[in-house]
Formats: sequence, C-alpha cells, structure tokens
Amino acid sequence: MRPILVLYYSRHGSTKRLADAIAQGIASQDTPVIVRTVKSINEVKEGRDASEEACDNVPEVTLQELEQCSGLALGSPTRFGNMAAPVKHFLDSTSSQWLKGSLINKPACVFTSSSSMHGGQESTLLSMMIPLMHHGMVICGLPYSEPELHNTTTGGTPYGVTHVAHSGNAAPDRLSADEKALCFAQGKRLAILAKKLEHDT
Ligand SMILES: Cc1cc2nc3c(=O)[nH]c(=O)nc-3n(C[C@H](O)[C@H](O)[C@H](O)COP(=O)(O)O)c2cc1C
Repeated sequence: MRPILVLYYSRHGSTKRLADAIAQGIASQDTPVIVRTVKSINEVKEGRDASEEACDNVPEVTLQELEQCSGLALGSPTRFGNMAAPVKHFLDSTSSQWLKGSLINKPACVFTSSSSMHGGQESTLLSMMIPLMHHGMVICGLPYSEPELHNTTTGGTPYGVTHVAHSGNAAPDRLSADEKALCFAQGKRLAILAKKLEHDT
C-alpha cells in the first residue's frame, strides 16, 4: 500500500503534536505513513524565538510525495480563523496535481491548533477542506460514535481533530487525553478508508 501523508505547518509545536498523534493512529492499522512539513514563507519577517523547534528536523514535502500518497492528513495552526499562509502557499503550488487528477478519490482529513477555545478552529478546518475538495479528495471527519467527541472540554470536532493551546505555546504544551484519543481515532479512520478506496478505485 502507498503511504498516507501527514502534512502540516507548525511554528510552536502544537500542530506537530496533533500530527504525530494522528500518525500513530495510521500506523496502528499497519499502514505506511510519512510525516512532512511545508516550507515556511514568513520566518524571516517574524523572526525565530527560543520555543520554535516545531518544523525543524522534519523533511519538507515534495509534490511527488503528495501525488503518490494513498491519503492525506493536513494540519495548520489557526491564524485569524484560517489556515496559515505556508499551508495555503503549498496548496497553491499543486496546480499540476489538480490537472492530472492525482488526488481524486483519496481520503483526507484536516486538523488545527488555536490558542483560544472559540478562536476559529472550525472555520479553519472548513477552509482547509475547500482546496482538497477541488482536488476531488474524499473528506473524512470524525463520527460521534467516538465518546471523546461528546466529553471533550478541550479540542476535538466532528470536522477534524484540534488542540486548544491557550497561551502555552512557549511552555511544554501537551494534548489532553481526549484530544489524543481523537487524533488516534482520526488516523485509524483515515487508514481504514485509504485501504478501502485504494482497492475500489
Ligand atoms: C498571526 C497569528 C494569528 C493567529 N490567529 C489566531 C486565531 O484566529 N484564533 C486563535 O485562537 N489563535 C490564533 N493564533 C494562535 C495560534 O493559532 C496558536 O498559538 C496555535 O496553537 C499555534 O500552533 P503551533 O504551535 O502549531 O504553531 C494566531 C497566531 C498567529 C501567529
């Protein structure tokens, strides 16, 4: 089976933690998984700070890896209720994959981290789905049969998994037990769907 691509941008590490937890759920299904980042386009202007290690040591995705994946988990920090510019910048470089139809009928999920509970997680997730739908991907959220979706007092939505970081970006900021469980479930679901769709299409 071709690998599932977990692709994200993270400046302070919260979105990276979601990515790694989703990857564990994918791997639990004996499905190959690769974890990649997109190129940062605004670090020079913003500067780098001591807490910033998130994308270091993680390889940058290639368009070939995107084309060859059997499914995609796409993650971004919430920025003004939308995806971060590096993620959009990467998506805007995928015209040739759109022309070739490389991603048609492949499953995809989206994930995000924001500092505040009501700071635009769901709008970010929905906006990330739009380009993936233009690519013909099959969007996969999370069903309410996952008990943590009912119980979470932190992140976690039916549109995709999330983390509420509060102001903890600089401090070690961990996923809650519910967030972690939902990431695992999301990864598992993506892997199960990727297997089915790879066989059927
Ligand atoms: C330019 C910018 C815009 C942001 N906009 C929002 C926002 O709309 N809502 C929110 O709750 N947090 C917002 N944040 C905070 C980040 O979403 C939050 O710190 C997130 O956890 C960062 O993820 P990371 O650790 O993966 O970099 C913003 C941060 C930046 C730098």
